[in-house]
Amino acid sequence: MRVSIRDIQKMKADREPIVMITAYDATSARLSEAAGVPMLLVGDSLGMVIQGHDVPVPVTLEHIIYHAEIVTRVTATALIVGDMPFMSYNVSVEQALTNSARLMQASGVGAVKMEGGEYLAETIHRVTQVGIPVMAHIGLQPQSVYKVGGMRVQGRDLDGARQLLRDAQAIEEAGAFAVVLESVPAPLAEMITHKLQIPTIGIGAGAATDWQVQVFHDILGLFEEFTPRHAKHYAELGGVIREAIGNYARDVRERKFPAPENSFNMKDDVLAALQINGADEHAGH
Ligand code: KIV
Repeated sequence: MRVSIRDIQKMKADREPIVMITAYDATSARLSEAAGVPMLLVGDSLGMVIQGHDVPVPVTLEHIIYHAEIVTRVTATALIVGDMPFMSYNVSVEQALTNSARLMQASGVGAVKMEGGEYLAETIHRVTQVGIPVMAHIGLQPQSVYKVGGMRVQGRDLDGARQLLRDAQAIEEAGAFAVVLESVPAPLAEMITHKLQIPTIGIGAGAATDWQVQVFHDILGLFEEFTPRHAKHYAELGGVIREAIGNYARDVRERKFPAPENSFNMKDDVLAALQINGADEHAGH
């Protein structure tokens, strides 16, 4: 059985600190689930860590469906949340309904995530009303990177902080089951967490949010372009992989790989027959 929205509510009520991590393919999903992660996000951060863009804007609904279908297929217990990409839900409530349903039906995710606060409340309300759980995402909204002018911390000034408090309240009232707080000053994230009944999931929002989310590649040292301040490397897999591939290349150059134990043999009589007749048989074709 997968983790359900009811389980999420119980974890919040029990003050159980849990983690969410992004997953995009069979390997990241299997490893994260095996490590005991109860909630996996097929995030549009795949635009950066998988597709090599600088921003998530080029990611389409079809891209998310492709990756989310893999992640749901190879996992059994985690709740899989699919990110609604740029402009796949902001045109109208009808568009959000149609595309959320499509993501769910085509990939099997158990919930969708949407960036936006107060102004998205009506959309969140209608989408949850038809039975699609919505995780909201406020604070830094990477899909608005061009409007914001970079990946900046949000809610630092009084107006910004008040707006974030209104956003949080509005999306809870609209029916979101959880909210991601990205790049929000820690004291403000704590205030929002105390105000809401639904769990807050922080990334760059300090330690007081209910739960935390991180990007798979960030915490494993696989994304080497830069390390966001909010991420901690729990491994340096980029270096480990580079060294391993270098060793493989060296062994091939020095003819040390493949060794006999990496090769397949054949029966002596078949080999002998081939050596006697092989050239002629081959020439006959
Ligand atoms: O796309 C993503 O991975 C996200 C997380 C960073 C929350 O939105």
